[in-house]
Amino acid sequence: MKKVTLAIVGCGGMGRRHLAGLAELAKTDHNTVHLAAVCDLDARKAEALADEALGLLGHRPRPFTDAARMAAEIDGLEAADCTVDTGAHHRVATALLDLGLHTMCEKPLALTIRGCNLVMEAAARNGRILSVAENFRRDPINRLARALLDDGAIGDRQFMMETSVTGRNHLFITPWRHMKLTGALTLDAGVHNADILQYYFGDPVSAYGQIRLFEKTRVKSNAAGPGGFWEAWADDVPERIEPTGEDAMFGVVNFANDTIGQWVFHSAGHGLPFNHRMVFGTSGSIAAPGDRNGRPLRLVLDDGTDLSDERVLDHAPSYHLSPVAAELFGGDRVWSYDFDFVTTDRKIVALEYHEFAECIRSGAKPEVDGAVARRAVALVYALFESAVAGRPVTIDEVEAGTVDAYQREIDEYHGLIGKNALAG
Ligand SMILES: NC(=O)c1ccc[n+]([C@@H]2O[C@H](COP(=O)([O-])OP(=O)(O)OC[C@H]3O[C@@H](n4cnc5c(N)ncnc54)[C@H](O)[C@@H]3O)[C@@H](O)[C@H]2O)c1
Repeated sequence: MKKVTLAIVGCGGMGRRHLAGLAELAKTDHNTVHLAAVCDLDARKAEALADEALGLLGHRPRPFTDAARMAAEIDGLEAADCTVDTGAHHRVATALLDLGLHTMCEKPLALTIRGCNLVMEAAARNGRILSVAENFRRDPINRLARALLDDGAIGDRQFMMETSVTGRNHLFITPWRHMKLTGALTLDAGVHNADILQYYFGDPVSAYGQIRLFEKTRVKSNAAGPGGFWEAWADDVPERIEPTGEDAMFGVVNFANDTIGQWVFHSAGHGLPFNHRMVFGTSGSIAAPGDRNGRPLRLVLDDGTDLSDERVLDHAPSYHLSPVAAELFGGDRVWSYDFDFVTTDRKIVALEYHEFAECIRSGAKPEVDGAVARRAVALVYALFESAVAGRPVTIDEVEAGTVDAYQREIDEYHGLIGKNALAG
């Protein structure tokens, strides 16, 4: 396959993690992406990522501060990887698509449903691939859990608990992650869990939620971020901030076919961190270990079966990783793995790039396209909108924008509604 010529747009921490993922892909038999350029509004960040790429890839992509100029000057540029901060997704991903570039966008697709619509409309009018880099579901252990469910290992799906309680009053990497107008953690990180809920249990149809802003002040903690990728800018992070975005949400989710989920995302939790993913079926349960840690899952059945080793594979005959995932994780029926976070992370990002390039060449629909990604955003906002409306809401009414009281302030701030609204 002819390599896809691509640029990374957004050279912050996640831009660096994506570069590491590209370098990981380049080491496989599936080296399908050529990094021709990098772009950031901050020239120093673009230069630094170009330098880092030289070390990791053996060639230096051209650095830019303006994506339009980049598209004009790089011969044969076909695609962009949008790793700008969440508050800029709707503008930057839309602009990249309008430049004619196939676009892979970091999650969440956008800050609000209207923001998601803007990006999706740009993909449609330009006839370009839009893929969203949702990484959790690509973890082989989540693939295995999904295969167990699909193969009926625990009978029919019945109930799922998705719980994350952690965070205390710590400032998580960057201030923008704590602000309603730029993407609070409940959206920015919570969308991962929303996607896992839909990946495990299918389409969510309605939800009831409560939201809170518990920590009115947060203090600088690990500004270097996971894997230390944000370390170079850690000094720019203030010692304390006053968050405006809710840091906790508590919800009940109804899925099609009458299954149910209980979802807690609480990033102001003190004491013992509590992360739990439990799935119950009509004849057993799966305790899933979470994401990117490689730990085995545990399958417990009513007949006395209790497995947390490779024998779980006997209950998932359909489980097979893709060839590139099998190469990266050491087998096509991996039931556990032992890599550190940074290594695991770059393998999963490599998978995102690989699928994106394949979709560009074949025209196939990405696994997490705009519609799947917008549904996850709608599930997050269903909890928010339900809390504001004081009643359960359907995911459809949130996605259609007919229930939007919480999001309106964000949409107005970004010019997504009102008399000067960006064209959609
Ligand atoms: N999938 C994951 O596990 C994961 C983890 C962390 C972050 N993310 C996502 O990655 C995205 C980036 O997060 P981050 O922590 O790297 O953000 P960041 O703030 O560290 O970096 C964002 C960069 O984008 C640049 N930028 C903003 N507007 C731009 C524009 N118009 N043109 C070019 N550059 C522009 C900024 O200058 C900045 O350097 C977010 O959407 C976040 O949710 C995903």
